[in-house]
Amino acid sequence: MSLSHKVRTGIPGFDSIMSGGFREGMNVVLSGPPGSGKTTLGMQFLYHGAKDFDESGIFVTLSESPASIKNTFLSYGWDIQELIEQGKMIIIDARPFKMEEGFVTLDESLYRGESLPFMHLTQLILSSIKRIGAKRLVIDSLSVLETQYVNEFYLRQGLQGMIHALELEHCTSLLISETGEIQKIPMDWYISSGIILLHHIRREDTMERTIQVLKMRGIKHSEQILPMRINDSGMQVMHPRLIP
Ligand SMILES: Nc1ncnc2c1ncn2[C@@H]1O[C@H](COP(=O)(O)OP(=O)(O)OP(=O)(O)O)[C@@H](O)[C@H]1O
Ligand SMILES: [Mg+2]
Repeated sequence: MSLSHKVRTGIPGFDSIMSGGFREGMNVVLSGPPGSGKTTLGMQFLYHGAKDFDESGIFVTLSESPASIKNTFLSYGWDIQELIEQGKMIIIDARPFKMEEGFVTLDESLYRGESLPFMHLTQLILSSIKRIGAKRLVIDSLSVLETQYVNEFYLRQGLQGMIHALELEHCTSLLISETGEIQKIPMDWYISSGIILLHHIRREDTMERTIQVLKMRGIKHSEQILPMRINDSGMQVMHPRLIP
């Protein structure tokens, strides 16, 4: 693989602000408050990957159900079920519970003790990557995973191990983080090779969406906070000169 190979997100207006896209195999934290577009950006990255660049992808959900995810993205006209049937996408349901005979219980097949071991999740992800030859991965969200660990050392070790395994597979990963107003810089911000921030803030009587590349190791990127829109066809990054 040439050094210049770029993993294009396919999100209109976004790849051009980071010299054409991600580096293959990098892991990027995607952070923002509720409703800022994290899941949308993540799924759009996988959808364009599968549709436009012939790169299949894995979506690991720890919050929304796979059915709800498929339903949500149908409203953008993205048929996730079709991609799954074509072997271009896998949704891994890693939510910390399952429904059994009408009751909510801990999913014993995934969770050992009270938390989902990183090693277990990493193996599950690696076997899914091999199954469809995935080049892209989204974890939604790392925050849910992290809340299961009281010991920071085990968390950091587990996370670094998982990231390293993904790098070896040349799988480009978006790790969704639910950080809102930052009090303390989260540990995963240091471990990751890139950080994208989504903002959703009040401006007069409305809310405004923006996107920012805070860090992207080895890639020349814009330092600007750019306006972003979500409409019926998904997310679109606006460049100041393009705004009417
Ligand atoms: N067709 C559409 N047109 C305009 N805006 C839309 C459309 N569909 C969804 N949205 C907006 O996009 C938001 C969804 O963003 P998304 O679910 O990706 O956010 P999130 O950051 O993942 O949120 P959470 O932290 O709750 O998971 C909705 O809250 C809505 O405001
Ligand atoms: Mg979400």
